[in-house]
Amino acid sequence: MGSIQASRGTRDILADEIAYWQRLEAVARTLLPQAAYQEIRTPLFEQTDLFERGIGEATDVVGKEMYTFEDRGGRSLTLRPEGTAGVVRAYIEHGLQAQGGVQRLWYLGPMFRYERPQAGRQRQFHQLGIEVIGSRDPRADVEVIALFNDFLTQLGITDLSLELNSVGNPEDRQRYRAALVDYFTPYQQELDADSQDRLSRNPLRILDSKDPRTQAIAVAAPSILDYLGPDSKVHFDQVQALLSDLDIGYRLNPRLVRGLDYYTHTAFEFQSGALGAQSAVGGGGRYDGLVSELGGPATPAVGWAIGLERLVLLLQRLQPLSATEIDVYIISKGSLAEANALKLARQLRQQGLGVELDLSSSAFSKQFKRADRSGASVALVLGDEETQAGTVQIKWLKSGEQRTLAQTQLLTEAQSLFRTSSEA
Ligand code: HAM
Repeated sequence: MGSIQASRGTRDILADEIAYWQRLEAVARTLLPQAAYQEIRTPLFEQTDLFERGIGEATDVVGKEMYTFEDRGGRSLTLRPEGTAGVVRAYIEHGLQAQGGVQRLWYLGPMFRYERPQAGRQRQFHQLGIEVIGSRDPRADVEVIALFNDFLTQLGITDLSLELNSVGNPEDRQRYRAALVDYFTPYQQELDADSQDRLSRNPLRILDSKDPRTQAIAVAAPSILDYLGPDSKVHFDQVQALLSDLDIGYRLNPRLVRGLDYYTHTAFEFQSGALGAQSAVGGGGRYDGLVSELGGPATPAVGWAIGLERLVLLLQRLQPLSATEIDVYIISKGSLAEANALKLARQLRQQGLGVELDLSSSAFSKQFKRADRSGASVALVLGDEETQAGTVQIKWLKSGEQRTLAQTQLLTEAQSLFRTSSEA
């Protein structure tokens, strides 16, 4: 029988990569609470209805990409394809608006979309997201964009471009949609099949087509920015002015239409040329209609999500990170020494040191090789002779310097002798 492999579009995150994940999680866990965001954890599956209503039936996500199934009780459930709809559901369900003011929330976890897997695109992927619910102030839009920017900067990623657009309010979009239909209809036969289909269902998405012929036709299509009403225009102007105030550079991109239907006003994406076809590291925008669409009181909101697999790809190009927390590697051979080593490892760990115990009982030379690879700065060497004498040999792995010490002395001086991981 053949062995079983991970499902298509899913992957294991192994030790060689985990340090990057831990690093970005650590940065998020400091940066976001500093701006008064609180973590929220919502279920991995929800009622299918939530996503159909929230994300929009005409979107690719709902139309083609959801993992929808019936449970044993006959309910239609869906693995969450994104985080915003679940967060808004929780906001309404728990009456978080009654707590007054603005709710600032963040989340991190797996999302599921049935897409064709390729570099930076999976069927189970991870997002870090934030949502500010309860403010229509343009400063909220700019706060979230600035946090995205600061998160990346703290990770050392400084070469992303910010693409910015406004998709207006529903009335603006209604007028724009009509203008697009007018524009594209004469070209209908020349559009790619998907775009022909979108002409009636979701004409804005035609602007997002990757088909060269459709793109060429779309070049001269009307711009959403010419269809913004006065309120939308004021909001968008303020967002731009505040971004400039904060020295956050952006590129206006009137063709930026995001793949989810809930957006109103500000829409944005951070993109990287280093990622190839899947260039969006993350994106988001305002969604002033979603809370009421899902049955809550009319409440404006804005947020974003970052695709963490893509972020890890960028981080790996920058700085090599390793996950080792090991200060001391313990080598032993002989039955007395091996029992002694187990005990010594535990005593040193109780002092807060990182200690790896070699369990192989192989030749000292082999154990030394593993010590060199372990990332520890010192090896402790125990044979039966040392154990009987109550001593231990210390070898500093970089310099090769060696000393023999009483084990009692080792235990009192261990902190100053060995601690390295905290300095690194
Ligand atoms: P989204 O643009 O659909 O927005 O997804 C955000 C990010 O998730 C993308 O930019 C990408 O980095 C990553 N992503 C999406 N699909 C995949 C995939 N199949 N494989 C790997 N990464 C992927 C949202 O999901 C919105 N909920 C963002 C938001 C929050 N808007 C307002 N608040």
